[in-house]
Amino acid sequence: MSDLISVQTSTEKNYQLHFGHDLSDQLEFYIHSFSSKKAFVLVDAFVLEHHRLHFESALSKKFEELHIFEIPRGEQAKSFNIYQKALNFVLEKGVERETPLFAIGGGVTGDLAGFVAATVLRGIPLIHIPTTLLAMVDSSIGGKTGINHEVGKNLVGSFYQPEAVFADVKYLETLPHKEWVNGLSEVLKYGMIHSPEILEQVNSLLENDEFNNGKAWLPLIQKSAQIKTDIVAEDVLESGKRAYLNFGHTFAHVIEKEGNYSKYSHGEAVYAGMIAAVYASNELGAEIDPSNLLQFKSLYELSLNEITSSPEELVEFMKTDKKVKDEQIQLILLQEPSFPYVHKITEIELINQTWQHTLKIFQ
Ligand SMILES: NC(=O)c1ccc[n+]([C@@H]2O[C@H](COP(=O)([O-])OP(=O)(O)OC[C@H]3O[C@@H](n4cnc5c(N)ncnc54)[C@H](O)[C@@H]3O)[C@@H](O)[C@H]2O)c1
Repeated sequence: MSDLISVQTSTEKNYQLHFGHDLSDQLEFYIHSFSSKKAFVLVDAFVLEHHRLHFESALSKKFEELHIFEIPRGEQAKSFNIYQKALNFVLEKGVERETPLFAIGGGVTGDLAGFVAATVLRGIPLIHIPTTLLAMVDSSIGGKTGINHEVGKNLVGSFYQPEAVFADVKYLETLPHKEWVNGLSEVLKYGMIHSPEILEQVNSLLENDEFNNGKAWLPLIQKSAQIKTDIVAEDVLESGKRAYLNFGHTFAHVIEKEGNYSKYSHGEAVYAGMIAAVYASNELGAEIDPSNLLQFKSLYELSLNEITSSPEELVEFMKTDKKVKDEQIQLILLQEPSFPYVHKITEIELINQTWQHTLKIFQ
């Protein structure tokens, strides 16, 4: 006889991702079965101003009470202050376990609103409606939610899966060029770690002058989302394969930090980070053609000249990344195109050289 009790838990939850141009009908059909007459919408300020009618007309057909909370634009919104304001709003309006919360915006809105949904009453139904390329191909999938802390980005949060995701490219009609480029990096990442044909498909969007055209992007958005979904499904809590999604990101986090989280966008930093990761991979014996990525350089208009820390100092910053284990830097590198692996760094000199190389490319 043992004193032990086994508890079986599962963090897996099945949900559907919907893709298309104008998903109002699908959204109306989906919300039809909700029992609640009330819903919350946490929405990015720009999206509220420019797309209010688009989501409100669908949601108000079902929900008699639609409480809309505006999330200020920018990374600063992922703060304790806005989190608390959003919590106050939801609690003061009255919320029950079945009351759904719609997160409508980019990754900032999705992460913050997702964390509100995860923590109010220990969890209420969350529906993501991503409105940036980055959010459609990355942040709305996989259940990471959270806010920033003064010590670092995304340090407070939880894994909380949505009930559904509606990636409606109609929202992308107002997306500025720099946000397309920002999201592009994650798409290129899927090309590098999984499906090389993605790089060619991005190229044909550029050649056909369709780079800012959401409808033309739909197949690529869907393919990218599928890759992320497949990787996450194998590793919900990020203990193994999901780490591959961090290709370029350990370098990127340092660049973002160097720019005080405002000078360089996440996408710009990831792009430079991937170029660094390719260099390090090749130094360790791979033969990856750097022009696979460098061919997109002119889209980024990125200069890292203002990074004043020395390569040695940048290496020290890398040790503070939250994915570091036992102070050992872990990089996702490529054995060959589409074959990522986790590399625990023992060759600090290699990382120094990698920084020198990357800073030179982005002079
Ligand atoms: N949860 C995850 O797995 C995950 C993954 C990657 C990134 N992230 C997080 O996502 C955030 C970045 O997301 P983002 O790049 O979408 O940033 P964002 O949410 O700040 O959006 C970027 C800008 O685009 C504007 N915008 C949003 N939708 C628009 C539209 N349809 N038309 C015009 N403008 C629009 C916003 O107002 C904002 O100014 C970061 O905080 C990052 O940490 C999370």
